[in-house]
Amino acid sequence: MAEINGQTAIYGIIGNPIGHTLSPMIHNGISEALKINAVYVPFAVNDDLSCVVNGLYSLGVKGINVTVPYKRGIIDKLCGADSMALKIGAVNTLKLTPDGYYGYNTDILGLDRELEDEGIGLKGRDVIILGAGGAARAAAFLCASKSPASITMINRTPEKAQAIMDDVTAYAQENGIYLPGSAADIITIEEAGRLQGNGYIVFQCTNVGLAPKDNECVIDDMRFYDKVSTGVDLIYRPAKTMFMKHVETAGGAAYNGLKMLIYQAVCAYEIWHDIKVPREVIPKIEKMLNDSLKEG
Ligand code: ATR
Repeated sequence: MAEINGQTAIYGIIGNPIGHTLSPMIHNGISEALKINAVYVPFAVNDDLSCVVNGLYSLGVKGINVTVPYKRGIIDKLCGADSMALKIGAVNTLKLTPDGYYGYNTDILGLDRELEDEGIGLKGRDVIILGAGGAARAAAFLCASKSPASITMINRTPEKAQAIMDDVTAYAQENGIYLPGSAADIITIEEAGRLQGNGYIVFQCTNVGLAPKDNECVIDDMRFYDKVSTGVDLIYRPAKTMFMKHVETAGGAAYNGLKMLIYQAVCAYEIWHDIKVPREVIPKIEKMLNDSLKEG
């Protein structure tokens, strides 16, 4: 890391627990590559978010990432937030302004950049979202904004999927996005094998299959995977989840969530520093993360 001196700008991440975060490695890696005098540190904070935000503001911390469990609760502590972040109801990036912190959701921007990077276009495609938690909600909004042919949500608890689809449908209507029949396309995990259609792009947004439970997968029925052409798992630990293995066994292409993680950080970095992170930095960061994940 570059030398810390009187001009070093401070950035960081708040969450609880925070010990496993890879964000300092990404942000400090970018600063080092670009020779920018900044440092990024983890803050394990308590639930008193007003106190946390006021403290960070008083200390002049220029940018903050927010992780579990504060992405929703942080919103009313801000001086404002990006309209998409407000729709999703989750903020993961704060930028210091004279009036307080302004919020963004770079998880959704990161997923968008991952899709662009991998050449996965959603326009006119049949999309499936697996899960109905916070990650699924962000993915559903991104998918809706890309004019797919359809969005189907599959979740253990269909009511949670319905709540997301209601909000996504309202968002699509407000923004003139046509989503044919989307509000009706909610099915249970047991029904997944009987799904009609083909060539689906699937976003795996549950936490099933996350290390150390590498052998678990939210859908085991191989008839489902026969209909999948592309599977994007938001999990990056392990590097190849059981979901990804099933997609590949059935002849589809599978991607993990590492690029989304990197790009959500890159998008935050660009917002904070008002620069474009050069493309050639990305493989260096990816290698660093892969090495670190292999070490466990
Ligand atoms: P995140 O914010 O990371 O998305 P979350 O909000 O806890 O995490 O959501 C986890 C998702 O994984 C949910 O969709 C959850 O299903 P329910 O909505 O039915 O709770 C899904 N999930 C977790 N464990 C599961 C399991 N064993 N089988 C099926 N789905 C599971």
